[in-house]
Amino acid sequence: MIICGHRGLANQAPENTIAGLMAAHAAGLSWVEIDVQLSQDKHLVLFHDQRLGRCTNGSGTLREHTWQQLKQLDAGLWFSRQFTDERIPLLSDYLTQAFELNIQVNIELKLYPKDEVHELCTQVSQVLAALFSQGKSMPKQLLFSSFEPQTLVLLQQLVPTVPRALLVEQIPKDWQAQLQQLGCEALHCAHAALTPARAAAIIEAGFKVSCYTVNKQSRADQLASLGVHMIFSDKPLKALPSAEHQAPNMDAR
Ligand code: G3P
Ligand code: MG
Repeated sequence: MIICGHRGLANQAPENTIAGLMAAHAAGLSWVEIDVQLSQDKHLVLFHDQRLGRCTNGSGTLREHTWQQLKQLDAGLWFSRQFTDERIPLLSDYLTQAFELNIQVNIELKLYPKDEVHELCTQVSQVLAALFSQGKSMPKQLLFSSFEPQTLVLLQQLVPTVPRALLVEQIPKDWQAQLQQLGCEALHCAHAALTPARAAAIIEAGFKVSCYTVNKQSRADQLASLGVHMIFSDKPLKALPSAEHQAPNMDAR
């Protein structure tokens, strides 16, 4: 089972910053999850909340600020003095650094406001096209996810080579139909929503199941035994192999 640093590695460094990427790398993680949204002038930046107050020294919504304004905010001091002057990163700068470190990135698309799906997905596609324009092919180092199915529909058209996952809190009854319709390879759910029977059904149907946000080693171990593919954690937990990858226990036969 893969341990994916949640929002970078949110227990160790300010979330959704380059410092978080470095913390994940220092902890030996090979995956990070980040939240991405649009500034007023359509720059793609890393940020979780709609409002700036919790994680910067700014105020108001992120969407009403331009990139010039956002990049002047301190996005580290709220976490600790050690991270004073940490900035909100652009997606393009973050991905460049992640790929240099050989870290794979789950880009979670936050759709604020809800009717700007076209703007959001078009910008994602353009950022990736620019990064991989010089003869470099798209690496297998990316995964898109979103709570908003319409982003997954559009990304399938715009960036079909990057796999997608549907994010849910509770697992809907029609999970299989939704995953099939959206062409998703995985379901990402809150870990408390995953029962052993549901995990088995999802894996049996040919999909991956991954869980957020898991910060206890004992729960991580349980999820690995259910065959969970990846967990999102604020801490650098240790990962057991997923049950699906374990060799058969010959003694039990
Ligand atoms: O992608 C997993 C997790 O990040 C989803 O919830 O609110 O932390 O973005 P949230
Ligand atoms: Mg997220």
